[in-house]
Amino acid sequence: MTTHLEEQQPVLKIQGQATLKGEVTISGAKNSALVLMAGAILCSEDCRLRNLPSLADIHRMTQILAALGVKLQRNGDILDINAQHIGQDQAPYELVSQLRASFFVIGPLLARLGMTRVPLPGGCAIGARPVDLHVRGLQAMGADVRIEHGVVHACVKGSRQRLQGAKIYLDYPSVGATETIMMAATLAEGETIIENAAQEPEITDLANFCRSMGAKIKGDGSKTIIVSGVEKLHSTDYSVIPDRIEAGTLLIAGAITQSEISLAPVFPEHLASVIAKLRAMGPQVVIDGPDRIRLVPAPLKATDIETLPFPGFPTDMQAQFMALLTLSEGSSIVTETVFENRLRHVAELQRMGADIRVKGNVALVRGVPFLSGAPVMATDLRASAALVLAGLAAKGTTVVQGLQHLDRGYDNLEGKLRKLGANLRRVNVASEQESAEYSRVN
Ligand code: EPZ
Repeated sequence: MTTHLEEQQPVLKIQGQATLKGEVTISGAKNSALVLMAGAILCSEDCRLRNLPSLADIHRMTQILAALGVKLQRNGDILDINAQHIGQDQAPYELVSQLRASFFVIGPLLARLGMTRVPLPGGCAIGARPVDLHVRGLQAMGADVRIEHGVVHACVKGSRQRLQGAKIYLDYPSVGATETIMMAATLAEGETIIENAAQEPEITDLANFCRSMGAKIKGDGSKTIIVSGVEKLHSTDYSVIPDRIEAGTLLIAGAITQSEISLAPVFPEHLASVIAKLRAMGPQVVIDGPDRIRLVPAPLKATDIETLPFPGFPTDMQAQFMALLTLSEGSSIVTETVFENRLRHVAELQRMGADIRVKGNVALVRGVPFLSGAPVMATDLRASAALVLAGLAAKGTTVVQGLQHLDRGYDNLEGKLRKLGANLRRVNVASEQESAEYSRVN
């Protein structure tokens, strides 16, 4: 009979104040891999994706695609996908509700099959996460879309069962909506223009992936994307870009522990705003070549950050940066403009001695001389990363619970940090045993 303790999830135990050194390898980008997996539905031939990270979210997306009839074969960081026999039955709600990114399948399914049903992804810890911009884009391209009992029913009007190119203006440069519309447009009849498009590097990675299958896309990475539809796409073998958010998170691990570390592969231009802010705080960020950066630590000075769509400061780095600001000299103002509920890490950082006051979507962070280790609870993916970073710098032991959030988006973060010299391990609370098997989630 298992006791209550044995049912408990493992936790991360961090002995703070270790100095890090050396080089760490950055994995493939989660927010690119997920949408590229959906994009493979556009093609009815073999697609090979390389440099895929091992993440819970990637595993869930694999399950969702398999439920739709897609054939998948994972071999290390390689994923072979064949969507030739894609079905029309919808992905099971219990899978979709755990992975919002599963909504990315709606554009490719509509473009391939002319009709589809996709459960409406719910909200999550950081916000309501509506999909109205995705839906309005597909409607502009000639799809009849209605939502019934939490399921989005979409079908292409008219006998031709083919989406029509359209001119679409996005009220907000939504990453997901840009990706949904761009994917659907690759097989539409005629030209689609997306105005006020998102400019994140993952958009360009998706465009490069689609072009490698024969799609005709221009302007990705700018505010206006033009897609000329083609009849069919062909197979490809494509490597996912490095994860800029993992890289940013590890840069902060160096800065917050006053350690010199190197990261590769990284595309510095994907992190320009984060690098600029780190430099403003005192550390040096040295570009050691086309895909390698090195952090040289320095005493930390306060700075203000406001999250914005790319090329602005990324919302996915806000929590991690706030952990760093808690230990900087002076006061910083952190403004979260992208998601409505993305300051939930503040309460846990306060438990570690941080001096933070929140009013609406603005946090005032006053630097303190040190943080104290404490048991803390992760609430969402990037909040969990922020708590790990705070634990690396804190005096004493920090125990991070809620690792399911961390494992969604970081490929063996604790293994990477341990390799740099951090003193942390994942333990099963009940038996206090080293749970090495937990360090790989896939
Ligand atoms: C992507 O989410 C990322 N996820 C997020 O990363 C990231 O934070 C976000 O882009 C912003 O960069 C993936 O790529 C899988 P949005 P997405 O559409 O596409 C509103 C992480 O931590 N909006 O740009 O959902 C929305 O509510 C995750 O890795 C609408 O109003 O982001 C939000 O306020 C978290 N209607 C804002 O736009 C819509 O139809 C930005 O959302 C769509 C979005």
